[in-house]
Parts: sequence; structure tokens; C-alpha cells
Amino acid sequence: MFKQTPAPVPAGDLAASLAPFGQSRMLPRAAYVDAEVFEWEKLHIFSGWHCVGQASDLDGVGAQKAVGSGANGILLVRGEDHQVRAFANVCRHRGHEMLACGATAKRRGIVCPYHSWSYKLDGELRKAPGFDAAKDFDSSQFGLAELRLVNWHGYLFVDPSGADIDFDEHVAGMEDVIGPYRPEDLTVVARHSYELATNWKVIVENYQECYHCSTIHPELSKISPPTSGENLDLPGDWIGGWMSMIDEAETMSLSGRSGGVAIKGLSEQELRSVMYLVGFPNLLVSLHPDYVMTHLMTPLAVDRTHVECAWAFPKEALDKPDFDPSYAVDFWDLTNRQDWTACESVQRGLSSPHARPGPLAPDEDGVYQFVTRVARAYSGSR
Ligand code: FES
Ligand SMILES: [Fe+2]
Repeated sequence: MFKQTPAPVPAGDLAASLAPFGQSRMLPRAAYVDAEVFEWEKLHIFSGWHCVGQASDLDGVGAQKAVGSGANGILLVRGEDHQVRAFANVCRHRGHEMLACGATAKRRGIVCPYHSWSYKLDGELRKAPGFDAAKDFDSSQFGLAELRLVNWHGYLFVDPSGADIDFDEHVAGMEDVIGPYRPEDLTVVARHSYELATNWKVIVENYQECYHCSTIHPELSKISPPTSGENLDLPGDWIGGWMSMIDEAETMSLSGRSGGVAIKGLSEQELRSVMYLVGFPNLLVSLHPDYVMTHLMTPLAVDRTHVECAWAFPKEALDKPDFDPSYAVDFWDLTNRQDWTACESVQRGLSSPHARPGPLAPDEDGVYQFVTRVARAYSGSR
């Protein structure tokens, strides 16, 4: 992220969040319940690098999809050269969205649904009805506004502001962690869509600790001891850590058995553990020995978040005649729902005027990394 104006939260509360681990407090209550803070986050956090989906979501030349909305409305398009591009989702005529948020299309051009201006797949204006004879109308001046986009291991990241740090800095330290799983070669075979009545940060904070696991995840705790593993210390905008599995388990599933095939080339450590990563701010990536699960969060309001969970498997698993991804999907759908119940309860709790930022337990150092990352952004620094 980049230097910015401070968020509308009390500076004293931020100082408490930024105190050394062991003495610090959670983010101020306003961070979770105040619509003004949410608006600030849209302008100052989600206007920088954030994930907008996977390249495989845009299947073939001419595939189009609108994501985000308002200031961060983005149109994704796969061009004639097979590259995915991102444009501001706004027509250069009078501002209509090219597609409604979440909508998809597939055609050899981009057509505005209002007065039918049409653009090439690279954003250049092709035709503006009625302007053919107009003198001084220079169509090259009216192309769609292209945004910085990077396709990193199949994940699409966009910087609508154009002012965020270099993408390499954003993902510094991640190549060695994610690279061996080659997510770009995996196939998404299952997706679940959840709409949660909670702030997006409550979901990340929950993901960043297993202090709650023995209480609310009996199935997970049987396969992966809640106190196992450790958090990474990464130089870029990503945070995360790994947890190990019991010796008898091959992967995270109800039985610990895998119904798939291990991803080729993983190390012994990678085959015995699961890596849980947060691509700040909105992508959660869980690297398993035999599949990669992602949670892509789209904040809808201060107390509402859309989460799309996707499970991707290697080709060798899909080639198995009896391949059934439900061993992974059912396990995590159950675990997700246990988490969502807790996250929504936290949101209701935080809506009480009596809620105060609480302290962090020794096992919540991952939460500390996230909270301090947000608190630094709120205070106007990196
Ligand atoms: S607003 Fe798009 S054609 Fe008029
Ligand atoms: Fe959980």
C-alpha cells in the first residue's frame, strides 16, 4: 500500500493496536462498525493491489467479467492476444457501467448497454453511434481507462489507484512459498459462495489464528493439532503461517485421507503441513499437499462480506476415473460454516457500544501481524 490520509479512527486507539505484541489491543471498534471507516478502506486499502479473481474465470478470447463496484468497479477482459486486462468499469460516453457488478459476457467487443458505444477487447473505442460525421471527434481519445493488472500464478491482482508499490514488493517473499504448488496449473472444480453478516477484517482475523480451533473445530483439530506450526515473517504485503498434520493424515479431510493426488514436486515439509496465507487485503490461500483452497473476499458494507471459496486440484487427480473432490469440499464447508457462525457473532458483539478492543493471546501472533498492518494503514503509513 501507499502513503495516505489517516482513517477516521482515534489516534490513541491506533497506538494501542501498534503496541508491542503482548501489550497491544485489537483495532478500535469503529474499524468494524463505522461506515465512514469502511468508505475510507475502499478508497485507501481496496484501491491498491487486491485480488479480483483467477485468470481461469475468464475462459477464452472475449470473456468479460465485472467485479467490485463504485470507485473500485473493474471490468476484466480477455483480449485477442489471450491476455487478461483490467479497465475501470465506466463508459467514456456518459459513465454507464459496461457490465453490472458480478455479470459476465463473452463477445469480440465490449459494448455499453446504454447507447451502444463499442470498444475493442484492448479498450480502444471502435464505434460511437452518430459520431461518424462529427468533425473533431478523435476516437483515440475515448478508450476505456486501463488499470494495472498482474496475473500472478493464475491469480489476478489489480491496482485501481495506479499508485501502489511495485507488485514485486507486494508479493515479496511469496514466490518460494506459493511457487512450488503451481496454482496456475491447477483446475478449480468446486466453488461455494457465502454472504456473511460480518466485516471483512473479522474473517481475516479468524483465519489468522487457531486459538479457536479446539473450541469450535473438533473435526479439524483431530487432523491438525491447533498449536502446531508457526507464522512466517515476510517482507511484502502477505502474512501467514503453516500448521502440521498428524502422522496418519495425508491432507485436511474428515478422515485425513486424500481422494486426490499429491501435487508434484512438493517438499517433505509441504507434504506434511498446510500453509495458510493472507494476500493483503482480500485473498486467503490455503496450500494443502493435494489441493489449493482460496477464499476471495469482496467487502459489500461495513458489516457484510461476500466470500467465494474455490478448491483447485492437479490434473492427475482429475484424471482419476472415480475422482470426487467432496473429501476436501465437505471438510472445509463444515469448517467454514463453524467459522462464519463465530465471525457473525463477533460482528453482533462488536455492534454493542460496550465493546472495547481486547488483548491478544500468545497464540494470536498472526492476528497481531494483520492488526498492525491495518493500523499502520489507518495511521497513514505503510
Ligand atoms: S454511457 Fe455508454 S454509450 Fe452512453
Ligand atoms: Fe476457524
